[in-house]
Amino acid sequence: MGIDVTRARADTPGCEGRLHFNNAGASLPPNPVLDTLITHLRREAEIGGYEAAAEAEARQEHFYAAAAQLVGGKANEIAFIENATRAWDMAFYSIDWQAGDQIITAQAEYASNYIAYLHAGKRFGVEVITVPNDEEGQISIDALEQRINNRTKLIAITHIPTNGGLVNPAAAVGKVAKAHGIPFLLDACQAVGQIPIDVDAIGCDMLSATGRKYIRGPRGTGFLWVRESLIETLDPPLLDLHAARWTGLDSYTVRSDARRFENWECFIAGRLGLATAIDYALNLGMDAIRDRIYALAARLRSGLTALPGVTVRDLGREQCGIVSFTVDGHEPADIKESFATQSINVSASRRASTLFDMTERQLDVLVRASVHYYNSEDEVDRLLQAVEAL
Ligand SMILES: Cc1ncc(COP(=O)(O)O)c(C=O)c1O
Repeated sequence: MGIDVTRARADTPGCEGRLHFNNAGASLPPNPVLDTLITHLRREAEIGGYEAAAEAEARQEHFYAAAAQLVGGKANEIAFIENATRAWDMAFYSIDWQAGDQIITAQAEYASNYIAYLHAGKRFGVEVITVPNDEEGQISIDALEQRINNRTKLIAITHIPTNGGLVNPAAAVGKVAKAHGIPFLLDACQAVGQIPIDVDAIGCDMLSATGRKYIRGPRGTGFLWVRESLIETLDPPLLDLHAARWTGLDSYTVRSDARRFENWECFIAGRLGLATAIDYALNLGMDAIRDRIYALAARLRSGLTALPGVTVRDLGREQCGIVSFTVDGHEPADIKESFATQSINVSASRRASTLFDMTERQLDVLVRASVHYYNSEDEVDRLLQAVEAL
């Protein structure tokens, strides 16, 4: 069944008076998410933070089941973490890195991840290998195969990069990882909530996600999924009294579930709000969400392609709801500012966020217009008119 767009828009206060095409930055939360957050914050003020948390315990637990369902995992494989970067870090820095280990990644890798590879290089003598793209602009599976050797300790790629419509063929990467018995860490920050995700079909072992992007959850929320069989082989870089138990004056034991990657104090209202956002998405159906997002993005891409002086910059065979482009004679930052004065939200994606990819393509900055299912066809057409009027 398709999405009831009128209803989705009525449920999204931010749709009024503004064209929001910055969903890959932070999407507009629907009313139920807003209500969950406000209700819990009010409850904290009324009865106390600990008391409000206790009262919401069952709903907090529900977060784990909901997040697991969204990615096709199990509740004990989920950790609630304040954002995708820290979720990814907790997985990455839990690996027992040794000098000479190799990490294989892809060209579209996100800056924070690549910085972590370089950081691990400095600290442990780990080497990072970046696989070139194939002729369609996505990670080359043949080149990936060729680079694997007995020093390969991790394959880590970004599913959907921050700067464009590319959807890297994660399942093909997972197949290679599995065939060689190499753990596979997937940065699915821009994918979860936008497209259906099934960790078994993809064949990844660790996956990071954020709340504020396509899931439509609160800012300051995210989660990590780690395959059950791997959890106890990973030693978290940080432990507290929630991740571990102090069993004797000189001993502790670490939790056996994925909550070993969490810490005790957290944004409880955010966890509840994220659970509501996930339920909301699951209720609409991830296939229907993906189909509508892809259709709106295709409309935007073909409209942009038809405009003189406009170049669509998206790569890959499969292209998602993130549309990147440049306009001859106009700086992306100026376009963003000019659109802001017309109540149109887009963002400018800069070289340093995806340095490898942007350097390869000799690009500095791109305009990024990212659609969500609650955007209307009319809004897309108005964005196209604004680009044409530049
Ligand atoms: C591919 C990718 N990974 C990770 C992140 C970081 O997510 P967060 O800000 O939730 O840590 C982003 C944010 O733009 C991203 O695009």
